Amino acid sequence: MNVQISRDIPVSYFDEISHIIANDEFLMLDRYGHHRNTSRLMHSVNVSYLSWRIARRMHCDESIAARAGLLHDFCPYDFREKTPTGEHQAFYHPKAAVENSERVFNINDKEKSIIHSHMFPLGPLPRNREAWIITVVDKICACLEFFHVSFALARKNRFVVNG
Ligand SMILES: [Fe+2]
Ligand SMILES: [Fe+2]
Repeated sequence: MNVQISRDIPVSYFDEISHIIANDEFLMLDRYGHHRNTSRLMHSVNVSYLSWRIARRMHCDESIAARAGLLHDFCPYDFREKTPTGEHQAFYHPKAAVENSERVFNINDKEKSIIHSHMFPLGPLPRNREAWIITVVDKICACLEFFHVSFALARKNRFVVNG
């Protein structure tokens, strides 16, 4: 499996996330539907790219926003499955995403905290500006995807997974 990104996506964004989108376990997110009209992979890229742009504009840490945004739903399993802890997926999946991201990409404490709080208010309070960006952008992307609004990288000709 490999990923192609069209030329109008800035190289500086791609550099932040290239090691993640080269990882086969991460690319498995493409197999799972998300918000009715997209895959979990495309949703993650949308959140990452938009968060990166906003973080840059707000003089926040855009590298962390790009990576944590991409990994916030790193859960390659069906969300209809029962969780091992018995919690609702809304509460369980951020913890699973932290665990998977730590295991595969060795993320730092700030990235862990951002991923952990992305479901706020169904989870902990975001602790820094990048975490607020991601929790808000996640909800905006979810709404746009659900109502099938094409934006950012969601158009297939701009970000294509082959395989
Ligand atoms: Fe999520
Ligand atoms: Fe999400």
